[in-house]
Amino acid sequence: MDLKYVLFSKEDGIGWIRFNRPDKLNALNSQVFSDLEAAVAACEADDDVRVVVVTGNEKVFVAGADIGQMSTADVVGVTKFIDVGFRAQERLADLSKPTIAMISGYALGGGLEVALCCDFRIAADNAMLGLPEISLGIIPGGGGTQRLPRLINYSKAAELVMTGDMIQAYEAEKLGILNRVVEPESLEDEVKAFAAKLVKRPAVALRSAKVAMRRGLGVSLKDGLGIEQDCFIMLFGTADQKEGMAAFLEKRKPKFIGR
Ligand code: COA
Repeated sequence: MDLKYVLFSKEDGIGWIRFNRPDKLNALNSQVFSDLEAAVAACEADDDVRVVVVTGNEKVFVAGADIGQMSTADVVGVTKFIDVGFRAQERLADLSKPTIAMISGYALGGGLEVALCCDFRIAADNAMLGLPEISLGIIPGGGGTQRLPRLINYSKAAELVMTGDMIQAYEAEKLGILNRVVEPESLEDEVKAFAAKLVKRPAVALRSAKVAMRRGLGVSLKDGLGIEQDCFIMLFGTADQKEGMAAFLEKRKPKFIGR
């Protein structure tokens, strides 16, 4: 995989996607988004990858979309930029495996929006989150006005979108944006431990849980319940369902094979 601004590695069932454009605080230009899309596609295709972690470095997760690139864009240029970002983010949000955003430092604008595409967000206590686009004369364009109010209380989401103010990690945890906040020194270990728990879970059931919850969010309750039932029934065709239930009855730990 030929990536310029993203590093990709695999270890113990975890696919690590690390933004790596430190001189611009990992700002998202078209190339970063293309790299992200390629790395996510690689994770989807690789059975050895069971959980995906998206992260930056200690100082910054991502400080937003690239203001330099956007500053001179016209409507055609920004449409292309939005399209490439949308493809990468949708691919991440739709990934059939659990995804964790590991956040240290700034997660602003498009950075927070990428984190919102993940199933879980775990942050160091130095994290600063926000959607500062309004102070640039624009609004979030990578899902901030859509995913955030679906995740947390509307008024709190509106406050972040309309003031552009940054909030600290514990405040974001209290609002329900972050799953948990830990000390910077233990961030990676905490994320690895959480991911390791997911790696041991049955992969097809994890996929189904994700499909049911994500698809269900966009439809009526009745249709959502239908999606859940279809997923539930389908799992009775998997070896892991047989193993999980047999292990319970035989009072032993299950050994899932991901099929
Ligand atoms: N787009 C493009 N470049 C960015 C950027 C962004 N979103 N965020 C930071 N950078 C660049 C800076 O221009 C600077 O580049 P330079 O050294 O070539 O001048 C470099 O990254 C370091 O940033 P700097 O502002 O000097 O770091 P800081 O530690 O003083 O401040 C922030 C950190 C995050 C508070 C500040 O960079 C910032 O406000 N960034 C923009 C956040 C934003 O509005 N994001 C939403 C975009 S839609």
